[in-house]
Amino acid sequence: MGKIVGLVNQKGGAGKSSITNALSNEFARRGYRVLVVDYDPQGTQTMLFGYNRLSQFIGTEHDMTNIFNGKDLNPISVKENLDLLPANPNLREEAESGKMGKELVLSNFLRGGFGKKGIAEDYDIVFIDSPADSGALTVGTIAASDYVLIPTRLTFVDSTGLVGTLQTIIQAVITFRLDLSILGFIPVAYKSRLREHNDVLASLKTTIPQILSKHDFIKTASEELFLEPLKDRIAWAEAAGKRVSIREYIEKEKKGQRDILLSLENITDEIIRRVMIHSEIGVEV
Ligand SMILES: Nc1ncnc2c1ncn2[C@@H]1O[C@H](COP(=O)(O)OP(=O)(O)OP(=O)(O)O)[C@@H](O)[C@H]1O
Ligand SMILES: [Mg+2]
Repeated sequence: MGKIVGLVNQKGGAGKSSITNALSNEFARRGYRVLVVDYDPQGTQTMLFGYNRLSQFIGTEHDMTNIFNGKDLNPISVKENLDLLPANPNLREEAESGKMGKELVLSNFLRGGFGKKGIAEDYDIVFIDSPADSGALTVGTIAASDYVLIPTRLTFVDSTGLVGTLQTIIQAVITFRLDLSILGFIPVAYKSRLREHNDVLASLKTTIPQILSKHDFIKTASEELFLEPLKDRIAWAEAAGKRVSIREYIEKEKKGQRDILLSLENITDEIIRRVMIHSEIGVEV
């Protein structure tokens, strides 16, 4: 079964959708079979893949709310090696309903059980993009994941949001007895010459291990919790505006900014090392 990686941070604008999009493209171009789940009713991820009208999926086989109602759900094939389960504006309503076990619906769908095959079996890696809150969709993302990947911006406000996110993860692991590892933290929109960013990064590098050491049932995929920072660059928003991947945008229009792609390649390499999927499927890395 493919490894399931949830992108979480209950603070808005942390970089969840941008990084989900960038990494899913990177893995697909390396030959991994990738599924992207857009579990945010805002549908940013779905739009990043060029589907601007979310309502087109309502009532179809691509309607994410089907998994809450025992109906079949099938992904859209976006490009070679990359499938998408698009978001749906009605997702929030389902998540806020009083339905029993709503936090485990996505996990059951991806992993299967009771004789039913989980869709994650068809892929090498699954990325889940989650909303900016600590509700049932975020908890559902955590509950479905083998690993959580946590992007964060580096202002003081963002760092307090990050502590809240960690608390949500810890609570979900306790409540649902999850076998979950923290894959890492990615600093987003980093400005190396900005004092606040460096101070916040340094303080997170001490406070996060302190928090985690009090909860030793939370595993970490590496002793080095922080992955390479992604620098503050307008190209991310520009690529999103054009509905193309950051790689496509830079390779076609911003060749001078190839360092963004190098950072992404380093992060991809490191994720592969941390989840060790290469040993199972033999893709050259
Ligand atoms: N490295 C970066 N440098 C500058 N801007 C960035 C960077 N990464 C992402 N952005 C921009 O920041 C904004 C928020 O990013 P994104 O939508 O990925 O965050 P999010 O965590 O998914 O937000 P939400 O919580 O609303 O879903 C977007 O406009 C995106 O283009
Ligand atoms: Mg988002």
